Amino acid sequence: MKVCILMGSPRKNGNTAALLEPFCDELTAGDHIYERIWLCDRKIAPCTACRVCQRDWSEFACRIRDDMQEIAGKVLEADLLVLASPIYSWYCTPPMKALLDRLVYGLNKYYGEKKGPSLWAGKKTALITTCGYRPEKGADLWEEGFRRYCKHSQLEYLGMLAERHLGYDTVFMDGDKAGRARAFARRLFRAAE
Ligand SMILES: Cc1cc2nc3c(=O)[nH]c(=O)nc-3n(C[C@H](O)[C@H](O)[C@H](O)COP(=O)(O)O)c2cc1C
Repeated sequence: MKVCILMGSPRKNGNTAALLEPFCDELTAGDHIYERIWLCDRKIAPCTACRVCQRDWSEFACRIRDDMQEIAGKVLEADLLVLASPIYSWYCTPPMKALLDRLVYGLNKYYGEKKGPSLWAGKKTALITTCGYRPEKGADLWEEGFRRYCKHSQLEYLGMLAERHLGYDTVFMDGDKAGRARAFARRLFRAAE
């Protein structure tokens, strides 16, 4: 399986990165190939709603020339798409939101004169997130928003791993969290088979 991990945290040694480590180890142990893309290192401009992308139903076709052409190609090639982001103000981080807006128009040809296809229909997706509040109060809106995004785009949503960060003076990672990250990876392989 080819896994594309879109990483929305700005912190290279932060909590979300630490949670991804055992998850990625399990992917490697299961002979799956993954690529992690740090969105904060990329140029991802906001969607301007020009709708030029709607005139071409064969590809992403966004008029803005930045790193999204390459990223959209990797998204289309992946068997499983994992969005990893800390929760910022009850949602994902800004580069992840910009990416979602670019993809929802660029890959869903729903917004032109005639309704066209979703170019990523059937794509399997999952979320990995870390948050300061309990996940039921911290990550629930992000998960619900992404569920609707998936339904609208005809993606298959497989679930979320959410872990709580109790404060910058505490150690985030522990054996239980690592175990849950590995188990989540195994659950995704089974669901994606
Ligand atoms: C600007 C900002 C906004 C945040 N907003 C929330 C929030 O709305 N809900 C929440 O549960 N945690 C919130 N947090 C806490 C982070 O989600 C949490 O510390 C996370 O583990 C950070 O991950 P990272 O180390 O990968 O950056 C916020 C943190 C920052 C810096």
